[in-house]
Amino acid sequence: MAQEDVFKKIVSHCKEYGFVFPSSEIYDGLGAVYDYGQNGVELKNNIKQYWWQSMVLLHDNIVGIDSAIFMHPTIWKASGHVDAFNDPLIDNRDSKKRYRADVLIEDKMGKYEEKIAKEIEKARKRFGDAFDEEKFRQTNPRVLAEQEKLNALHARYKAAMEQMDLAELRQIILDEEIVCPISGTKNWTDVRQFNLMFKTEMGSTADGAMQIYLRPETAQGIFVNYLNVQKTGRMKLPFGIAQIGKAFRNEIVARQFIFRMREFEQMEMQYFVKPGTEIEWFNQWKQWRMAWHQALGFGAENYRFHDHEKLAHYANAATDVEFHMPFGFKEVEGIHSRTNFDLSQHEKYSGKSIKYFDPESGESYTPYVIETSIGVDRMTLSVLCHSYQEEQLEGGETRVVLKFPPQLAPVKLSVMPLVRKDGLPDLAKQIVNDLKFHFNTHYDEKDSIGKRYRRQDAIGTPYCVTVDYDTLKDNTVTLRMRDTMEQRRVKISELRSIIEDTVSITSLLKKLV
Ligand code: GAP
Repeated sequence: MAQEDVFKKIVSHCKEYGFVFPSSEIYDGLGAVYDYGQNGVELKNNIKQYWWQSMVLLHDNIVGIDSAIFMHPTIWKASGHVDAFNDPLIDNRDSKKRYRADVLIEDKMGKYEEKIAKEIEKARKRFGDAFDEEKFRQTNPRVLAEQEKLNALHARYKAAMEQMDLAELRQIILDEEIVCPISGTKNWTDVRQFNLMFKTEMGSTADGAMQIYLRPETAQGIFVNYLNVQKTGRMKLPFGIAQIGKAFRNEIVARQFIFRMREFEQMEMQYFVKPGTEIEWFNQWKQWRMAWHQALGFGAENYRFHDHEKLAHYANAATDVEFHMPFGFKEVEGIHSRTNFDLSQHEKYSGKSIKYFDPESGESYTPYVIETSIGVDRMTLSVLCHSYQEEQLEGGETRVVLKFPPQLAPVKLSVMPLVRKDGLPDLAKQIVNDLKFHFNTHYDEKDSIGKRYRRQDAIGTPYCVTVDYDTLKDNTVTLRMRDTMEQRRVKISELRSIIEDTVSITSLLKKLV
């Protein structure tokens, strides 16, 4: 099945099984804003818990905070967001639709890549096992011609983006004959810069109201609290501050479901280090963060680093952790060495000293910062995409199963009485009441056992327990495993010890130390 079709199925599965709903759906939705349903919120909370505990429990020099979304507007001037947090936009005069100029050009590059991929696929079918892709790429005239166009466009685009040369971006769109997908015309306006921050007002009267912003990242809440935490926590360098919270960006091209949203959640950690040691710490954090991802068991081949060639003016190293989504390798997390840019800017704009006094050297200086920044929603999407599977069963039946790591699964155990009579429901409820203190346990008595198993597979429940007539006699139940569908008879008293360890976040954390 084409990857695009798989992705569509995942999106509709998320809605059908209570993971993600379009926001304000009964009013026809709100672009790029989503709500998490009863299963989605549990999955997301488990991911947050895994991240939070890996930061603040496993590192005795990392603490958490929860700063406000509203902050003093000068913070965004100091951080550079007011002047430079922009996307280049272009309008089509006929359709009146607005696009990101860089995305239009990137899509065009994607079309060249698609053409090359189609030629390769055709040749692979024609030559079978004897096909040598590398040689074909180097010699086939049609592939070479497309590759040449792609390389030329890439070079021109990269130069224009580096200079933020808006006139050149427009010229590329015209030269490449890019048309508006709605009107089909090339009637483009000039390219303009568009700031991505949402604005609102604080205060009651029009005169006295202060214009403020919804934060576009959680990181600045950490920077402006750095000295508060350092002093009150008596922290010594190196130390980190972690935070999970909402962020808001007025994304112009918002697509791919919860990959790019206007309201989303970030898990960010700023690690404050002595100047000169930052590259060592950057490499250390690259390694720690990759280990965190890979502990989920999705396969090392599905991750890669994408080191940035072009660095922001304040960074001296940066990389993305990319995950293999159904629509290609995509950024899930950024790891950045941000020098002392943010702290120095806040020092300058606030006029307050926020230097660190190093008791060992007796000097005062502004620490350097390594940042790890991961989107909760993107992480949730990667878990959903990797876990979604359609399996052909004996007898021609298909089952849709979410093979979540058990530690992230929304429901850990579903307890089912075989029939709704003869005391079986009471016994099943008793098991739920005993186990619900230890992990998320549900009771399910509706429909046949087969249907109930399928329903639990579809939300990724790793264990099901069936209570039957033998249970009344010998206190044993049938324990059914999601991934293998294997069933075995176990004592009720053993259930907790069999399940608890495999579903607890602690079992994931233990893989990291
Ligand atoms: N403080 C650094 C920072 O915010 P970023 O690369 O802009 O860096 C970090 O964002 C992460 O936040 C991304 O890797 C992504 O996972 C997530 N993210 C950013 N914009 C997003 C959006 N519009 N929707 C969902 N997640 C987003």
